[in-house]
Amino acid sequence: MTKAQACSVLCEWPAADDIKTINCYDPISEIFDEVMGIDFVNATYPFKRDTIQQHLGRAPRKWLDLGCGSGLFVQRVASDGVHAVGIDASPGLLSRARKRVRDLAVTVDLIEGDMLSTEFPGQYDVVTMNFDVLNQVHSLQNRSHCREHWARIFGKVFAALGSGGVLHFDINTVRRLEHDWATPEVISKRDLLYLHFGLPLERSGTSVYRKTPMLIFKRKARGSECFRRFSTVVEHFAIPNEEVCEMLVSVGFLAPTVREAADIANTAHVFLRNREFFTARRP
Ligand SMILES: C[S@@+](CC[C@H](N)C(=O)[O-])C[C@H]1O[C@@H](n2cnc3c(N)ncnc32)[C@H](O)[C@@H]1O
Repeated sequence: MTKAQACSVLCEWPAADDIKTINCYDPISEIFDEVMGIDFVNATYPFKRDTIQQHLGRAPRKWLDLGCGSGLFVQRVASDGVHAVGIDASPGLLSRARKRVRDLAVTVDLIEGDMLSTEFPGQYDVVTMNFDVLNQVHSLQNRSHCREHWARIFGKVFAALGSGGVLHFDINTVRRLEHDWATPEVISKRDLLYLHFGLPLERSGTSVYRKTPMLIFKRKARGSECFRRFSTVVEHFAIPNEEVCEMLVSVGFLAPTVREAADIANTAHVFLRNREFFTARRP
């Protein structure tokens, strides 16, 4: 790709069609693991597993992963000998999850659906939402109902957990949407370039929203000058941590613990900036 071609792609971006399909991972499902998924799971899985086990006070037996994507996280849960179920709205990422568990010969029940409307089958001692799933839940429905959607998810999770069960999730904070996404973020790997940049921040009371186009170029073959382009647009919603905690308590959870990525991560990965990890237990 020449500099002129790269400039023209960036100038025309985001295209109107991309803006219409907000929070759809299908267009980048082929590249998701390589560009971001594997790094994120490797950086956070040990911390998440240990934190959950501490709160649970025993080894988990049945685990529901909401927004399981390509199955990177839920496959590790199943490989640890836990009965695992994953739900996701993206057929593209789910088909990768199916292939992953088949190739690794682990058992995970994978369900396609919007977690707002899909029934959570059975009872669990752990429910997770990893890698800012919750920030994105609102946009598949009406954007003005974000808080109600979060409250509905928390209520459904509470009902699906047995006594002493644990909910764990991480979210991009208000600060990340306000400050980090005011400038482009770039990941550069061998034969791969990822960049995303926030469109102007929107506010409503203490809520913030930001649409963030993602653009990925992947070299077609080693040594080739041709790149394949992948793109999508995500929109994130965030509210202050105290309000997230109040919501959890109002549906019945005990006061949650909140940890920063800086406390846990052994990497300075760009996606771990201003990310908070919530763990809440059902009495
Ligand atoms: C950043 S990806 C994280 C995927 C996975 N948890 C991981 O750690 O690799 C966000 C995921 O949330 C899913 N998602 C967003 N809103 C959803 C909803 N309402 N119902 C089900 N899945 C949803 C997307 O399809 C996508 O797979």
